[in-house]
Order: sequence, then structure tokens, then C-alpha cells
Amino acid sequence: MRAEPDSQPLQRIVLTGFMGSGKTTVGRLLASRLGWDFLDLDDEITRRVGISVPEIFVRDGEAAFRREEAAALADCLQRSQLVLALGGGAPETEANCRLLQSTPGVAIVYLEGAFETLQARCLQQSSRTGAVGRPNFSDPDLAKQRFDRRAPIYAGISTHTLHTDHRSPEALAEEIQAVLGLPGTP
Ligand code: S3P
Repeated sequence: MRAEPDSQPLQRIVLTGFMGSGKTTVGRLLASRLGWDFLDLDDEITRRVGISVPEIFVRDGEAAFRREEAAALADCLQRSQLVLALGGGAPETEANCRLLQSTPGVAIVYLEGAFETLQARCLQQSSRTGAVGRPNFSDPDLAKQRFDRRAPIYAGISTHTLHTDHRSPEALAEEIQAVLGLPGTP
């Protein structure tokens, strides 16, 4: 079931969805349209720990990564006029969902897409940037299982859902701004 937006003035827009759904790209564009700050939760974790996300997975394991993720999320949610891109796995931690839903002035937008689309985007990104890919997308079968397990969680915590297949990041940012009824910067 879709979550209800709270009645507080909107201060934080949180983008959620699976890896490759465009949370970071769309989030940056949206923040610039609104004149708000943008944060990517993975970047915040990297800043706090001092090494990249794939390096944290290798050195400390996924459970340690999830602890850092929860701490970084709690810090980010203190800020206002913020667009925040979550990592794809953040809503799998129940405490993160509770925190997101109990923080006032939050809209949670689910960027939904077909698994094949998301997989193609992730492959494209890693071949374009040459970066070490996402640890939780390295095995396609396991990634599909994660996708199936998470889809209802994303939908359940979100106040709005946007389908992203065949849509540009610009069009998605514009639509989020419109559905939330927010004016842009002049
Ligand atoms: C993960 C998604 C990644 C990152 C980490 C784990 C996941 O973020 O947090 O590699 O389990 O889905 P993106 O969704 O931004 O790729």
C-alpha cells in the first residue's frame, strides 16, 4: 500500500528504488530545479568511512556497510531543503524505513523500472565510467531475487511512484516537481 504524505511542509525529498533506477541523476537535476541541496547516501558513507562502497563491501562486509548506511541516513535526515538519493538496499533495513516514515516533512519517491532496464543501465554506467561495479549486481540471478524481494518494500514506503522505463532524467525531475507541487528557482 502506498504511504500517505504527512501534513508538515515538505523539507526532504527521498528517492528510492533499485540500483540503476536513476536516483542520483534524477536527484541532482531535481535539487538544482528547486534550489535545494542534493546528497547521495552512498557518497555520504564513502565520505564517513574514507573508502568506496565496493571497498567497504570487500574489507568490512555488507553488514558493516548497512550499519554505516543507517548512521549516514539518520544524519542526512536532519537537514532541510534536501533531495536525498538512497542506496538501493537502504529500505531493506526496517529501522531505516521507520526513520524515513517518522521524520516530518518527507516525501519518498519510488523510481520504478523493469529489471532488464535497470540491469542495462548499470552495465552501461560501469562500462562508461570504468568504475568497479555494484557489489550487489555482480550476480544477475541474485540481483533479480533482491529486486523481487525489494519491489514491494519500495512501493510500500513511498508516497509517490514514477515509472522510469523510456523516460529521461530531466522528464522525471520535472514530473516529481509537479506532483509535489513545488515551485522552481527563477
Ligand atoms: C546497493 C545499492 C548501491 C549501494 C551498494 C548496495 C544495493 O546503491 O548502496 O552497492 O544493495 O542495492 P545504488 O542503488 O545507488 O546503486
